[in-house]
Amino acid sequence: MNNKKDIIILGIESSCDDTSAAVIKNGVLLSNIIASQKVHEAYGGVVPELASRAHQQNIVPVVDQALKQANVNRDEISAVAFTRGPGLLGSLLVGTSFAKGFSLACGIPLIEINHLQGHVLAHYIQEEGVEFREPKFPHLCLLVSGGNSQIILVRDHLKMEVIGQTIDDAAGEAFDKCAKVMGMPYPGGPLIDKLAKEGNPDAFEFAKPRIKDLDYSFSGLKTSFLYFLRDRLKENENFIEENQRDLCASLQKTIIDILMHKLVKAARQTGISEITIGGGVSANSGLQNAMKKEAQKRNWNIYIPKFAFTMDNAAMIAITGYYKFQKNQFAKQDVVPFARMNIND
Ligand code: KG4
Repeated sequence: MNNKKDIIILGIESSCDDTSAAVIKNGVLLSNIIASQKVHEAYGGVVPELASRAHQQNIVPVVDQALKQANVNRDEISAVAFTRGPGLLGSLLVGTSFAKGFSLACGIPLIEINHLQGHVLAHYIQEEGVEFREPKFPHLCLLVSGGNSQIILVRDHLKMEVIGQTIDDAAGEAFDKCAKVMGMPYPGGPLIDKLAKEGNPDAFEFAKPRIKDLDYSFSGLKTSFLYFLRDRLKENENFIEENQRDLCASLQKTIIDILMHKLVKAARQTGISEITIGGGVSANSGLQNAMKKEAQKRNWNIYIPKFAFTMDNAAMIAITGYYKFQKNQFAKQDVVPFARMNIND
């Protein structure tokens, strides 16, 4: 039952290759269904047209399951929140169109969500029976995924500022592209993480970029990794197989060192010690350990999302919708998705 004071948000996420729907009631998660698309594995990356088609197939069953699991009827929902971008346009169109139709059919407000804000606010999702630690404002968020590597100054739930970002590849791209060079399947990040646990992180050294301020660069690392392997393979054609674990551990250590160096700098510059991480790469065990180490050393309060909230998910879209709902920030029916968006768009 929805007694009028309850705020129940249906969230829809379809920015890349995960179709997801979630229900949040008064900030507490009731369901979060994610249908991942296996079809891309054979291609070494996400194929946009296949992703759009899979979203089209998945969206209705996924929403249906999310409502059933939450035990919520359509007429109890206060608003529907959807990812407007950034992401693949064809994929975004599926979620956007579904949300528009749902809002019209149920006569409820439509809320557009910036996917990046969603990753940042994933830390505000409450779950029944799970201890809730809420990051205080202002805090810093290291947002690291397949499409982004940013340091965000978070002033409020809906007020954020990018203070550092990659000038070329994202950290997730560095994991995935280097994995591809080693002949591993897509996405390579989780596999590198797994193999790195059994390797020596100091076995090989790769060049780290010198980029000004709080910005990142990962394209040089990818190139240096490629040339390094090319030279070693000339001497020994089995070099990758024989050194896979050490290669993964050394590469992962380099990426983490690059990420942490600028995060430490950002914390020092801003004087902020309340620090969160988010995005797909925040699932990396090496990065999580590095965060814990720095937290001890520098007296940081850190917040690491649970695994289901590191990847693309509609729970983070619903929680962001929950905050926008309370500020009456609604979208019109002529809203269109955008492939590119900044944190405050
Ligand atoms: O946020 P996300 O699910 O989606 C997009 O960016 O669209 O992030 C996906 C990225 C991929 O690059 C993937 O390789 C990386 O996150 N990733 C990881 C790990 N799990 C996912 N990278 C390193 N270690 C992991 N455990």
